[in-house]
Amino acid sequence: MSAQILDGKAIAADLRATVANEVKALLSAGHRPPGLAVILVGEDPASQVYVRNKERACQEVGFHSELIRLPADTPEDRLLAVVDELNQREEIDGILVQLPLPEQIDEQTVIERILPTKDVDGFHPYNVGRLTLRMPLLRPCTPKGVMTLLERTGVELEGLDAVILGQSNIVGRPMALELLMARCTITVCHSRTRNLADKVRGADLVVAAVGRPRFVQGDWIKPGAIVIDVGINRTDDGKLCGDVDFDAARERAAWITPVPGGVGPMTVATLLENTLQAARLHNN
Ligand code: GUN
Repeated sequence: MSAQILDGKAIAADLRATVANEVKALLSAGHRPPGLAVILVGEDPASQVYVRNKERACQEVGFHSELIRLPADTPEDRLLAVVDELNQREEIDGILVQLPLPEQIDEQTVIERILPTKDVDGFHPYNVGRLTLRMPLLRPCTPKGVMTLLERTGVELEGLDAVILGQSNIVGRPMALELLMARCTITVCHSRTRNLADKVRGADLVVAAVGRPRFVQGDWIKPGAIVIDVGINRTDDGKLCGDVDFDAARERAAWITPVPGGVGPMTVATLLENTLQAARLHNN
């Protein structure tokens, strides 16, 4: 058996087209375009790539977008002042502070400074709490993008045993809440988990978000499982690869996401969706 591909590239393009149409409708109704401000502190190479992708996507759908670059030695209170100003500005609907931040800045303090209705990352405790209580408002982009990918592909989730590898605030934890809301049974694994391979072997759905190239081996995959690979790693020969050994896993899985072209483009498209949602909150 060879797995069917969960085509994040194509579904993300559909999602961006939907957002672009809705922007046109907003403009025709006399509203301003949705506005996203992205703050990049320092020069982390991966962050620069992500931020560039976000900017390009904003332009494609007709958003107003601003990139604020701050030096790596920016003090925390300076960054907080920038967030305060963006919180006040009417034409800005979404504020995204690219993580990780330099060590002199406390990430949680910055996240909590963003107005919850402008928190398009869904990282503010208000939005995390709402997701936990099954009344989501703005939802973290990667897990929400994974849910959209599965929904639009028509993959049924109810009752599945889902195993998530990784417990981060950005992916693992909100992914668990999303899949719980979709009525899966959830196991969240992390660096202290015992018998990890056996846990994966029992999974109908695996989400890998550990940041280690080809960490998940093909023979861990239950025949017929759904495999979601959130990892983006660069191998020694300069190619991109995920957290799953794709070639081996696709021989056993029913559905699998490629890297690149799986989860990555869904994350960016979902950021646009969230910014449009925030703009609607602010227009009403
Ligand atoms: N760094 C890696 N992923 C993300 C993300 O989804 N949002 C932000 N703000 N920073 C990140």
